Amino acid sequence: MKREIVAIYPGSFDPVTNGHLDIISRGRSIFDRVVVAVSVNQEKTPLFSLDERVQMLRNATTGWDNVDVDRFEGLLVNYAADRGASVILRGIRAVTDFDYEFQMALMNRRLQGKLETVFLVPAEKYTYLSSSLVKEVASLGGSVEGLVPAEVLQKLQLKLKTG
Ligand SMILES: Nc1ncnc2c1ncn2[C@@H]1O[C@H](COP(=O)(O)OP(=O)(O)OP(=O)(O)O)[C@@H](O)[C@H]1O
Ligand SMILES: [Mg+2]
Repeated sequence: MKREIVAIYPGSFDPVTNGHLDIISRGRSIFDRVVVAVSVNQEKTPLFSLDERVQMLRNATTGWDNVDVDRFEGLLVNYAADRGASVILRGIRAVTDFDYEFQMALMNRRLQGKLETVFLVPAEKYTYLSSSLVKEVASLGGSVEGLVPAEVLQKLQLKLKTG
C-alpha cells in the first residue's frame, strides 16, 4: 500500500485570507492530505481568538475532504511527527517573505532532516495579500471584499465595530 503524504500548513491565520485558501487548494491537489495548523504561540496579540481562527478556517474549507484544520503548540517538527507528516507547506509572496522562510526551512531541517519544506506561489492577485494588511485596511473602514471569505468579512465588520 502506498503511504499517504501528509503536508502541514502552519500559520497564525488571523484571519484566513483568500491567499491562504489559494495555497491550501494547490497543496491539496499535490499531497494526499493537508493539515492546516493554527499556531497557539503568538508574538502579537491576535485580533481573533484561537477558536475563532480555527472555526473560520474549517468553514472556509468544508468542501475539501482531504483538508484538516487543527491547532498546534510548541515546535512544529514535533507536531509534524505526531501527525505523520513528511512535508511543511508554506506560501511565498515576494522577496520580503524569502529571508524569514529560508531561515525557518533550514532550522526545521536541522531539527528534523526528513521533513521537507515545500513553497508554493499563489495566484498573482494574492501576492500582496496578508492578514495584517486585511486587518489594517478593514480597521480604517476600507473594503476587503474579494480578499477574504464572506464569513471573515462579516466577522471583521462585527469585531471592528464592537472592538
Ligand atoms: N497571499 C498569500 N499568498 C501566498 N502565501 C501566503 C499568503 N498569505 C500568507 N501566506 C503564507 O501562509 C503562511 C502562513 O502565514 P501567516 O499566518 O503568517 O499569514 P499572513 O497573511 O502572512 O499573516 P500576517 O500578516 O499576520 O503575517 C506563510 O507561509 C505565508 O507566507
Ligand atoms: Mg505572515
